Amino acid sequence: MTALDVMRFVEPEVIARRTNSRGVKLDPSGLIERGRRPPAGPVLHGLAGRSIAEHGDLSRPEVIELCRLASLMEANDVAIHHPLDGKVVITAFFEASTRTRLSFESAVLRLDGKVLSVPDGRTTGTAKGESLSDIGEMFNSYGDLVVMRHPETEAAQELTDGLDLPFINAGNGSGEHPTQALVDWFALLKWRPELADPTVDPERRIHLGIIGTPGNMRAVKSFLLRSIDFAPAIRKLTVISEMADPFGAGLNDPERLDFEVEITNEMAPVLPELDVIYMNSIALLGDSYQLLGEQYRLHAQSTLKPSAVIMHPLARRDELDTSLDETQHNLYFAQAAGATYLRQALLSAILQRLDRLPFVEGA
Ligand code: CP
Repeated sequence: MTALDVMRFVEPEVIARRTNSRGVKLDPSGLIERGRRPPAGPVLHGLAGRSIAEHGDLSRPEVIELCRLASLMEANDVAIHHPLDGKVVITAFFEASTRTRLSFESAVLRLDGKVLSVPDGRTTGTAKGESLSDIGEMFNSYGDLVVMRHPETEAAQELTDGLDLPFINAGNGSGEHPTQALVDWFALLKWRPELADPTVDPERRIHLGIIGTPGNMRAVKSFLLRSIDFAPAIRKLTVISEMADPFGAGLNDPERLDFEVEITNEMAPVLPELDVIYMNSIALLGDSYQLLGEQYRLHAQSTLKPSAVIMHPLARRDELDTSLDETQHNLYFAQAAGATYLRQALLSAILQRLDRLPFVEGA
């Protein structure tokens, strides 16, 4: 299939129907066109049957090909091919979620698969003291893939001790949220497709700001770890945090970051320099939560670079004012809107249904 062929699957009226209503509107066709080829079948077929428990379970080429496949999912009515027909996905959420559970379930249902949904894990046998390992053993005969969120970091390992099915970690305590990081980079690559190039024009490299503490904010941690794959696209990283050691255990070696790193607790001086601002509201501290400090609030009057975009995994609290929603700084709604397509791409690859998609190369 040539580059021209793959552009055949870009349907502007489908894209227009799917974009978010407020803020930056991301067009998936730039990322499709940029690669000048269909998504690489050999890379994507390699995901068959795999689990995604942490960022390291996916390589940079896999992330880029998944994002390119997700762009085609977004630009085209793939439901007519019934990619997940006959597949059952179990979504087991032991902690509250709006976006992750519902975008996974929407992804499955829109591809003609079926969902076994556990929106509140406390209704399972855990209420009677059942172990997660035993629940994993039961899941083996109920579905084809399990997506789980749990407030405890060790829970992912406990479930997979009894599970033979592919597993996707949808957030485990202060651990990781690896598919959120995929959603985040899907948005960034649609915003600026050249960020996927190994040699990005120095003028186009970004100064990335993180407001929060990657060490105990799982979405921020997964985003930062995923960002290491895109080091050529990053000129500088500034972490703005009230904590002395925002990286914490597991990230305690900033030398791993292959770009200039600055840590500060003062937001005002650095804010006008940032191209991309990634923020989150909630940090997990043992069994409790801590909200971002009052000094780290953004609103329409904040001294942002005119072209700067703000990302947030949501849910938000007071740190991200609604006055930004109608502005072109708002990338967070487009970021959330892309989640369904990214998860469609991931599920189709893991559940070995790429052969039903007309725009993926053969294995
Ligand atoms: N981004 C995210 O994890 O949101 P939810 O908590 O609503 O799933």
